[in-house]
Amino acid sequence: MLKDIGRPNNINSHKYILGIDTSCDDTCVGIIDYNYKIISNRKITRSYDSFGGVMPEIAARNHLNDIDIALQYALKDANLSINDIDIMSATVGPGLIHGLIVGYYFTYSLAKMINKIFIPIHHIEAHMSVVHIDYPFLALIASGGHTMIIKCQNFLNYKIIANTLDDSAGELFDKIGRKLGFNFPSGIYIEQAAKKSNHSDCLLLPNKGKKDFSFSGLKTAFLRKEDLSKEDLSMLLQNTVGSSFIEKIQIAQKLTNIDKIIFCGGVASNQHIRKQLSMFNIIYPPIELCTDNGVMIACAARNHMLHNSKFINKNIDIFTNINIEQWCSYF
Ligand code: KG4
Ligand code: ZN
Repeated sequence: MLKDIGRPNNINSHKYILGIDTSCDDTCVGIIDYNYKIISNRKITRSYDSFGGVMPEIAARNHLNDIDIALQYALKDANLSINDIDIMSATVGPGLIHGLIVGYYFTYSLAKMINKIFIPIHHIEAHMSVVHIDYPFLALIASGGHTMIIKCQNFLNYKIIANTLDDSAGELFDKIGRKLGFNFPSGIYIEQAAKKSNHSDCLLLPNKGKKDFSFSGLKTAFLRKEDLSKEDLSMLLQNTVGSSFIEKIQIAQKLTNIDKIIFCGGVASNQHIRKQLSMFNIIYPPIELCTDNGVMIACAARNHMLHNSKFINKNIDIFTNINIEQWCSYF
């Protein structure tokens, strides 16, 4: 069960929220109740190893094939029928356009067909929604598509404090991982390999002293370290990404005067980086809710219901690249 800090308890807990995410490679379906209790969390994962990364068109066709199967699994786990669901939600952006189209139109048309509430969800907002703390706080998001620090002043009052100038942290893990011969996505394999290393070095950080992240220049620097083993390179990568997070969090805290911080997205599941950041008082989602999942979409929808937001029952467009600030001021 998710921690529920500062939220009303046992109100309408019989109501169920469905969340669907098809923004990248996994077809994700989650169901929660009104107390954020996880009822089911299903994901159909296809391998894109032979391509070295997600192939958007193939991923979209896989979503089309898998979405109803994943939904049926989730309903079966929950022992519910589709008519028991009260609210349906799906990611509308940012993400890969054809995958988003599949998830959005599947969920929206289902909701309209059986007369249920529909809520469109922003993917980054969803990553943050699995942690429940009182505003204001900072959110470090590090995933395959994004690396940023957001100032969360209040619900739908978000400001991007730091962004990446080039690659995301997850992309760096995946690109170095590919060179080292790991499967895609590589973050988890790098973490496993690094467990066999005591390497304590860290590469010089690009954009040091400034608020924004930069990771793409590090690729060449890593690959020049030919004398290091796979395990040591993996540890060096974790140390370097962790150090970059430390530096940028300190800058963001100074700029905003906010200490409280949450860390979400696929890279937040890395235990070594979590240890590196132990000097901060960071609140993390459970590991299984760091990478993309349907529960986080449902949690975001629950927050919209709680705040009676302008997004409830809105049929809006697909956005491949809408940032969280533009999202807040939509409508
Ligand atoms: O949040 P996510 O599932 O998808 C996006 O929204 O992009 O993040 C996926 C990213 C991938 O780049 C993957 O390699 C990385 O998160 N990742 C990790 C770990 N698990 C996943 N990176 C470092 N350590 C991990 N344990
Ligand atoms: Zn994500």
